[in-house]
Amino acid sequence: MTNTNKPLSIGLLGTGAIGSVMALHWASQHLFGLPRQRGQKTCVRIKTLAGDRQVLNIPPWQGQTLDWLVVTTKAADTLSALQSWQDYLPAVKRIMLLQNGMGQQQNCADWLATAGLPCELWAAVSTHGAYRTEEDHTPLVVHAGNGSTKAGLWPGDSPPADQTGSAEIPPELPPGITGLTDILRPMRIKLAINAVINPLTAVLQCPNGELVSDPRYLPQLQALAQEIDHFYHQLNWYLPEPLAQTAAMVAQTTAANRSSTYQDILAGRPTELPWISGYLLHQARQQGTELPLTADLYHQTGESGAAHTP
Ligand SMILES: NC(=O)c1ccc[n+]([C@@H]2O[C@H](COP(=O)([O-])OP(=O)(O)OC[C@H]3O[C@@H](n4cnc5c(N)ncnc54)[C@H](OP(=O)(O)O)[C@@H]3O)[C@@H](O)[C@H]2O)c1
Repeated sequence: MTNTNKPLSIGLLGTGAIGSVMALHWASQHLFGLPRQRGQKTCVRIKTLAGDRQVLNIPPWQGQTLDWLVVTTKAADTLSALQSWQDYLPAVKRIMLLQNGMGQQQNCADWLATAGLPCELWAAVSTHGAYRTEEDHTPLVVHAGNGSTKAGLWPGDSPPADQTGSAEIPPELPPGITGLTDILRPMRIKLAINAVINPLTAVLQCPNGELVSDPRYLPQLQALAQEIDHFYHQLNWYLPEPLAQTAAMVAQTTAANRSSTYQDILAGRPTELPWISGYLLHQARQQGTELPLTADLYHQTGESGAAHTP
């Protein structure tokens, strides 16, 4: 990627946990917020990894040209959040969806094409860990675990060619994000791990580590991982090692954590499972195959049979 050191203009749609962590990386860029109420300033307060508190006051986007519009809402909110800014989107060069789950990226690509919006679509995965809490009755985002963020052009969204037919020079990415030519691969690996850990911890109501330390739960993790592993092989989707091994290792290294799905269920919020297990169930239906363990857990978490609708 090119690096001109010139500040980028970046819009941030979704200033929750991960959005606030990314905003910290972009404090020296031209950063704009896209709040629910247009024109409002966004204020985020973050406890950094070093333990200090930082406050960022982010001015509202008023239609200035953006190099990047980064979306860090939950997967389900992606389209409605973007659609509410449709009149400003011609000023956006690239949209980057930095979220877990799959399905929303293609929905967004389809909508951009239908709406005739020329901006490129990018997708990103992040291994940072952050959560929202309160301190002295004031909202606070805690950056709990350091990680990395990788992004790539959404498949099929090829860079525009110039008049000579050659592709444009790859754009400079927002600080803290590295570029990949094949973003689908890490996205699918993360999807597979989440499709094991998230529904199991939600149904068994346990922290991640108990999936491996409790002898009643480990066989369930292994069976579910095997089902998804087989399906990935059927689809020719890459996994670096047996999924049971990867999922057990992730559960162990995040032993004390509650998965986001378990947290959402405890808080009575909608989960992202339609974009994780639901997405896989949709793929399975298209292949004329079944994922009975995935389907059973999906329904036990209270998600409807409709699953993810592309
Ligand atoms: N947290 C992590 O450690 C982490 C790590 C990697 C990936 N992720 C992924 O990143 C995505 C975001 O997760 P998160 O944990 O940051 O969620 P979050 O804390 O709930 O943040 C989502 C933010 O989006 C905002 N939002 C939703 N609809 C909006 C709209 N129409 N206009 C403006 N803002 C809107 C929400 O505002 P309200 O509060 O007003 O609803 C909230 O501030 C998810 O896909 C998650 O799986 C999270």
